Order: sequence, then structure tokens, then C-alpha cells
Amino acid sequence: MNNQKPKTPGQSAVETRYLLMPHQANPFGTAFGGGIFAWIDMVESMAARRHGGTEVVTVSIDSLSFREPVYIGDQVVLKACVNYVGRTSMEVGVQVIRENPDTGNQTIATTAHLTFVALDKDKKPIPVPPLTLQTDDEKRRYENAKLRVKNRKELRQKMK
Ligand SMILES: CC(C)(COP(=O)(O)OP(=O)(O)OC[C@H]1O[C@@H](n2cnc3c(N)ncnc32)[C@H](O)[C@@H]1OP(=O)(O)O)[C@@H](O)C(=O)NCCC(=O)NCCS
Repeated sequence: MNNQKPKTPGQSAVETRYLLMPHQANPFGTAFGGGIFAWIDMVESMAARRHGGTEVVTVSIDSLSFREPVYIGDQVVLKACVNYVGRTSMEVGVQVIRENPDTGNQTIATTAHLTFVALDKDKKPIPVPPLTLQTDDEKRRYENAKLRVKNRKELRQKMK
């Protein structure tokens, strides 16, 4: 039985902004995917840490889609929130938005879903607070995450 006080995704959501510098680009002048992923892992882990309240580790990358390139000089907005919680694990989603500095026009460049596990002082998985869903978006994200978790478990069983 989990007696922890439930939290909404909004209570742990994280939003931050970077400027894409030349040293973060590939030879074609657009963002190096590994650099974008490092930002994603950092921002999502902060959302998971805020929800779980203890140390967290990344346990899997469940999806990562580079939909549009990000160019040197773009402002890059990352918005992360907890979509779903299991017993000790949390799925966190992120939108990486490129903002054209001249027009302010924003488009979603990358999306990702990662799973984090909360750990106690002995580095053992520890239960996380339940998730309370309030908005339609939160409910939609929760249902989609539930599907990803189910698919992952089924696939793992089939691959044994
Ligand atoms: C995270 C870790 C402690 C989990 O250990 P474990 O022995 O698998 O623990 P459990 O079997 O009790 O699983 C714990 C939770 O992780 C989930 N999990 C385990 N492997 C997973 C995977 N590959 N993908 C998604 N979730 C996973 C389980 O479903 C479980 O979730 P639940 O409690 O919500 O049901 C261990 O895998 C680990 O230390 N991994 C290395 C983490 C790391 O170094 N990350 C990179 C740097 S942060």
C-alpha cells in the first residue's frame, strides 16, 4: 500500500531554454542528436526527481523522435512532465521546441519518453507517489504511456 500523497504532473513539470551554439552542431549546421538527448535526459530526470522526491536513474529510452532539425542560433525550449507512474518507476515525456529567434515561431523538433526509477539510500528501487490527473492532456498522456508500458512488458516476455 502506497501512503504517499499524490502529485499532479504540473507539480513536478520542468521547463528550460537553451541557445544552440556551433559546438553543439553536426557538420551540416544542425543540432547533434546526442547533444539534444543529453538535454532531454537532464530535464526529464529533474521532473522525475521532483515527483519521486529521491535520487532517480534513467532505466530506459522508450521513444525518441527527431522530427525537425534545430539550427545554430535557434532557441530550444524543453518541456518535461511525468506522464505515468508504476510502483518505483516513472515515465517522463518531453517536447523539444525550436524557436526561431527572428520570428519567435515555435515548432516541435523532438519528442521523447524515458523511464526513471527512484532509489533509496542503498540504491534500491523505492515506491514513488501516485499521480493525480486533472486535465484532458494529462489523461491522454497517461493512457498513451500505459500502452507503451504494456507493449514493453509484452515484448520482453515474447523475447525470453
Ligand atoms: C534501475 C535499477 C536499479 C532497477 O533495478 P531492477 O533490479 O531492474 O529493479 P526492479 O526489477 O525492482 O524494477 C524496478 C522498476 O524498474 C522498472 N524497469 C526495470 N527495467 C526496466 C526497463 N528496461 N525499462 C523500463 N522499466 C524498467 C520495473 O518495471 C520496475 O518498475 P515498477 O516498480 O514501477 O513496476 C537498475 O536497473 C539500475 O541500477 N540500472 C542502471 C541505471 C543507470 O545507471 N542509469 C544510467 C545513468 S542515470
